[in-house]
Amino acid sequence: MAIRGQDIRQAKALLREGELVAIPTETVYGLAGNAFNPHAVASIYEVKNRPTFNPLITHTDRLEKAAGYVQSVPPLAKKLAETFWPGPLTLLLPKATSLPDLVTAGSDLVAVRIPQHPLTLSLLQQLDFPLAAPSANPFGYISPTTAEHVSEQLGSKIAYILDGGACSVGIESTIVGVEDDTIVVYRLGGISTEDLQQVSQRVRMHEGQRHEMPTAPGMLKSHYAPARKVIIGNLSELILRYDPERTALISFRNLHPQIPEAHQRVLSASGDLNEAAQQLFSALRQLDKLPVEVILAEFVPNYGLGRAINDRLTRASA
Ligand code: TXA
Ligand code: MG
Repeated sequence: MAIRGQDIRQAKALLREGELVAIPTETVYGLAGNAFNPHAVASIYEVKNRPTFNPLITHTDRLEKAAGYVQSVPPLAKKLAETFWPGPLTLLLPKATSLPDLVTAGSDLVAVRIPQHPLTLSLLQQLDFPLAAPSANPFGYISPTTAEHVSEQLGSKIAYILDGGACSVGIESTIVGVEDDTIVVYRLGGISTEDLQQVSQRVRMHEGQRHEMPTAPGMLKSHYAPARKVIIGNLSELILRYDPERTALISFRNLHPQIPEAHQRVLSASGDLNEAAQQLFSALRQLDKLPVEVILAEFVPNYGLGRAINDRLTRASA
């Protein structure tokens, strides 16, 4: 069973030996390995049971360090990095040949991110290689937002979990590429579209988002999905159709008296979308453990982080 702790030296030693370590970030926990070690990268896919056509994000602590595996940083990407890093933004940049192809699943773009978490930043500062890290969950399941979530599902497969507490953002990073002065969004996440528009007014969704022909499997129609069936709609109407004892519920702001309280999670009583994002994945996980048939949920307002929350709810229900 994985040891849980805050020992950066131990994490560092394991990573240097090609072992995997779960790391905290502000978005979700990552399953990290040395991105320059093909064996370590291969074991990430294996432990996650993830198809090898689905590329990984590389994590570093300074943009200059990425120069070793990125060919160039276009001006708009540089501006985004300066504005949002460290933070929940991932940039797709032209990949150099030095990085193993397995990291990017053969793509000529590499996903790069500087996460904002003191433990992980400190670890990255002490490493002379980037960390390839997908979310630390079995492929297709909900991303972990606490060390305990990681331990429950991957604890028997890895040596160490760096425990950095509950993730503050709670939803994965926003993934963007740049085309001249246009920001192309591959995955909605912790940086909102409105935030991106502060840097360039020209923001559009990647084609795959519209046509459901994903280039980023984080965009797969069904993903981030609990085992229980998730149904989204008007909660007051949906509730009438199911046996209350066999029903769980995720509401944005209010409890619903018809359903046992222990079956309910309110994402933010005050209507704060940041709080709702932070709560979403642990709410889904907790309700997924109950002996219920169905998890009912409702969309949140579709702006700011609300768009990313609704995106995850939709995929959880597909
Ligand atoms: O917040 C996050 O991004 C977390 C933390 C650990 O950093 N990581 C994460 O990784 O969510 P993962 O592997 O679960 O999701 C990364 C997504 C995948 O959907 C993958 O397809 C996409 O990023 N991706 C990675 N490299 C890509 C590339 N070169 N082109 C297109 N999509 C890429
Ligand atoms: Mg993931």
